[in-house]
Amino acid sequence: MPLARLESELEKKLADLRAKGTLKGKETVITAMLPPRHGKGPRFHLVGHGRKQFLKMNSNSYLGLSTDPKVMTAEHTATDRYGVGPGAVRFISGTYEPHIELETRLARFHGRKSAMIFSAAYATIVGVLPQLIDKRTMVISDELNHNSIINAIRLSRPAGKAIYRHCDMEALATKLEQSIGFCDRIIVVTDGIFSMRGDFAPLAELVRICKRYNPKFQQGVITVVDDSHGVGAFGRTGRGTEEYTKAKADILIATLGKSLGVNGGYVAASSTVIKFLRETAPLYIYSNPITPAEAAAAIKGLDILESKTGLSLLEHLRKMTRRFEQGIIRLGYETLKSENPIVPLLTRDTRKTAQMVRFLFKNGILATGLNFPVVPKGDEEIRFQVSAGHTEKDIDYVLRILKKFK
Ligand SMILES: Cc1ncc(COP(=O)(O)O)c(C=O)c1O
Repeated sequence: MPLARLESELEKKLADLRAKGTLKGKETVITAMLPPRHGKGPRFHLVGHGRKQFLKMNSNSYLGLSTDPKVMTAEHTATDRYGVGPGAVRFISGTYEPHIELETRLARFHGRKSAMIFSAAYATIVGVLPQLIDKRTMVISDELNHNSIINAIRLSRPAGKAIYRHCDMEALATKLEQSIGFCDRIIVVTDGIFSMRGDFAPLAELVRICKRYNPKFQQGVITVVDDSHGVGAFGRTGRGTEEYTKAKADILIATLGKSLGVNGGYVAASSTVIKFLRETAPLYIYSNPITPAEAAAAIKGLDILESKTGLSLLEHLRKMTRRFEQGIIRLGYETLKSENPIVPLLTRDTRKTAQMVRFLFKNGILATGLNFPVVPKGDEEIRFQVSAGHTEKDIDYVLRILKKFK
C-alpha cells in the first residue's frame, strides 16, 4: 500500500519538525465570543476550558471590526439577499454587486485607478507576482518578507532574484546597480509593516531609489508593497505604511482579513495592470471570490474606517498601543518601539518564550510566542497585537500579569 509508505515518510518529517521545535501542534478552538461589557473588550471561550474567559492579544482585527455589530449586520443582510456562497468563479457567474462596489471603494480609498479582490491576501500575492515577473524580470525582495511573497517568487520564472538585508536601502541600491544590463524589468517587493516585529519598510527612501534606477531598465523598476498589517491600523487615517511614510508604491496589496475584520485580499494599481491581472491571474480566474456577504461586510468596515468613528478607533488604537508599550518598558521588558499595534516583547530565549506564553494562557491571555526559525536566532519574542476593541482595563490586566511573571 503506497499510502502506508508515504505516511511513514510524513511521520518522519513531522518528528523532525517536533525535534526542531517548530511544530504548530494543537490549535486552540474558540467556541463563543462574549461581547464587550463592564469596561472590558470581547472575551472568548475555548474548547476544554469551560467558562474560563480569554482575552485575545493575538488577533489581527486591529480595529475590532470582526466583532462589530454593524459589520456583522451588513454580512447577515447580504446573506439574506444573495445566499451564502458565490456559486462560481468571477467570470462564470460569481460576480455580485458587493464585489464591484468593494473594488471601487478600495481603489478610491488608496488613491488608485482600479482594484481587484482575491479570496485572501496570500492568494493575491501568489496570483499577482508571477504574472508580473517574466524571464526578462529581476525580482528584488526584503529578507524578512512574508511567506506568501517568498512562495510567489518561487512560482515565478525570473531572469534572476536577489534578497537584500532587512530594510537596508543601501543594499537594495547595490542589487539594483548589479542588475543593470541583465534584465529589462525590475520588481522590488516588500512588506509594509513586517508582521513579526511590527517594524515597517522605509518606503519613501525605497521609492526614491527605485525612481533613480527606473531609467536604467527598459521596462522600469516597479515597486510592490504588501501592507496587510498596515492598512486600517497605521497612519492617521489608516492608509497604512504609504500614509505614514508619505510615499506610494506602484502596486499595493493588502488583506480584508485583518483591520477590516472580514476575509479576503486585494490589489490596487493602475487600470491597465488590473485589467491584465483579471485576464491572467489564475487564482482570480479559477478560484471562487469571497462571498458577496463578506464583500458587503468589508464595505461596511470601510464605511466605518472612513468615518469619524474610524478616526477615533485609530486614535484609541494608538493610545492603547502606547499604554501597552510604555507599560512593558516600565516593567523592564525589551520591545521595538513603533506606532503600529504589533508590540513585540523580546525574550531572546526560546524557553522563556514558551514559559511566558503558558503563564499568560493560564491567566486567560492569548499571545503568540515566536521562536527560531520563524524569527532569527536571538530575536525570540512574544508578539502582542493591540486592538481598538481593547480597553484600558484590558491593557492594564495584561501588564499586571506580565509584572507577576517577572
Ligand atoms: C504580510 C502579510 N501578507 C499576507 C498575509 C496573508 O493574509 P490573508 O490571511 O488575507 O491571506 C499575511 C497574514 O498574516 C501577512 O502578514
